[in-house]
Amino acid sequence: MTVLEFENFSTWYNKNNLILENIYISLEPGYIYGLLGINGAGKTTLLNTLTGSNRSFTGSLKIEDIKITPNSNNDQWYKCKKKDI
Ligand SMILES: Nc1ncnc2c1ncn2[C@@H]1O[C@H](COP(=O)(O)OP(=O)(O)OP(=O)(O)O)[C@@H](O)[C@H]1O
Ligand SMILES: [Mg+2]
Repeated sequence: MTVLEFENFSTWYNKNNLILENIYISLEPGYIYGLLGINGAGKTTLLNTLTGSNRSFTGSLKIEDIKITPNSNNDQWYKCKKKDI
């Protein structure tokens, strides 16, 4: 079981320069995770995607049972953000 999962996830500011390329992250409930990386690695960009403020991505992110893709509408984002995880 995962509470948060990024799958085949890529994101960018300029499509010719991917910030994260095809990453997979899976978080299980009951653990504390850290997000480590050198300056400019893409940590803030990843978190901005999680909050919905960065919508320039391919692949998906899933919070519990709600899967978000680039085609997801605002209603799906809203349901996802309402989750208390
Ligand atoms: N608004 C933006 N427009 C264009 N490029 C950006 C923008 N924000 C960040 N970047 C670039 O995206 C890459 C990832 O940046 P990001 O801020 O996600 O890294 P970070 O891991 O949070 O770094 P830090 O440890 O310094 O906080 C960097 O190359 C950065 O220069
Ligand atoms: Mg940062």
